[in-house]
Amino acid sequence: MNVLLTGGLGYIGSHTCVELLNAGHQAVIADNLSNSRVTVLDSIEKITGKRPKFYEIDVCDRDAVERVFSENEIDAVIHFAGLKAVGESCRIPLRYYRNNLDTTLTLLETMGKHGCTRLVFSSSATVYGPNNPVPYFEEMPANLATNPYGWTKAMIEQILRDHCAANPGFTAVLLRYFNPVGSHESGLIGDDPNGIPNNLMPYIARVAGGQLQLLTVFGDDYDTPDGTCLRDYLHVVDLAKGHLCALDYAAEHVGAEAINLGTGKPVSVLELLHAFIRVNGVDVPYVIGGRRDGDLPASYANAEKAERLLHWKAEKSVEDMCRDSWSFILNHTN
Ligand code: NAD
Ligand code: UFG
Repeated sequence: MNVLLTGGLGYIGSHTCVELLNAGHQAVIADNLSNSRVTVLDSIEKITGKRPKFYEIDVCDRDAVERVFSENEIDAVIHFAGLKAVGESCRIPLRYYRNNLDTTLTLLETMGKHGCTRLVFSSSATVYGPNNPVPYFEEMPANLATNPYGWTKAMIEQILRDHCAANPGFTAVLLRYFNPVGSHESGLIGDDPNGIPNNLMPYIARVAGGQLQLLTVFGDDYDTPDGTCLRDYLHVVDLAKGHLCALDYAAEHVGAEAINLGTGKPVSVLELLHAFIRVNGVDVPYVIGGRRDGDLPASYANAEKAERLLHWKAEKSVEDMCRDSWSFILNHTN
């Protein structure tokens, strides 16, 4: 299969590209490098022995996307390209709506012109909003986001459902990721946010590596076993493999289908932190601070639908996630 990966040089896209190439597929990447580096191509080549075709383009740019489709026979698209920082989306919401919606619309229109009917979309557990009880099931209402980033995901899901309803041969698999962490075991690709990380695992890894001084645990007075928030951390290589299963599913089904990709196992902030310290034999100084605005006490998946429809199940442990996140930092710092 020849698969177009929008945002394919980013964290999840690059890992998915590796799994696709290792499985014998071809990959074409379209990325504007707004949150990634072109050197990721070298790392992908080092890991797989193959170099994907790369277009440095903005996926909002119709002419550029048209060029990708006219120069390549694309069988399916995985749409990773998007802006993803929750806090930033509250400060500059229009940029988020423009980028995340426009990339999707441009892509759908161009796919339509070229008869490409299979799309896998990077959605997020954030679409479950603040009111659903955990664990989250795909059938729950998922249309009450709490920030502009989350709204873009909820809106795109709706756009894709409408598009499928109007185009009966079209397939859209809406993958609702939980909390991807870790990196490829080579340590050559990983989560490499610009500036100070917002997310827990990259923050822990940078404190361990000495680039940041101290981790603040945001709140230990939640109604959870140890008082810190519960999340469904998922190894990015497991997540990447889930995309290959979604492509297989898309080849045999039509319509829009939302599917959680998570482990289904809640892990607290302190559990993740202590696992990281134990597995890697490092020190991670931390303090308990106040709650972070907008954090939910618990967010984790019911992961049965992915197993049933995609025959996919997360396999890697919290220990694997901690070890591989650290090996990326070690590799990167050196
Ligand atoms: P990332 O920022 O590492 O990757 C996104 C890539 O898209 C980057 O390489 C960026 O340069 C590119 N991009 C952004 N806008 C573009 C545009 N207009 N044209 C071309 N390229 C563009 O993010 P990631 O963690 O790999 O996430 C991938 C997708 O998964 C995103 O849509 C994100 O919202 C979604 N998601 C991520 C998480 C997470 O925790 N990482 C959780 C849920 C959903
Ligand atoms: N945390 C800390 N200290 C930090 C960073 C995070 O204690 O320095 C805590 C948070 O308070 C939270 C947990 O670690 O309890 C996980 O936080 P992350 O920021 O790593 O992940 P979130 O679950 O808050 O956010 C993720 C994605 C968002 C997405 C959201 C819901 O980053 O894009 O899941 O799906 F919107």
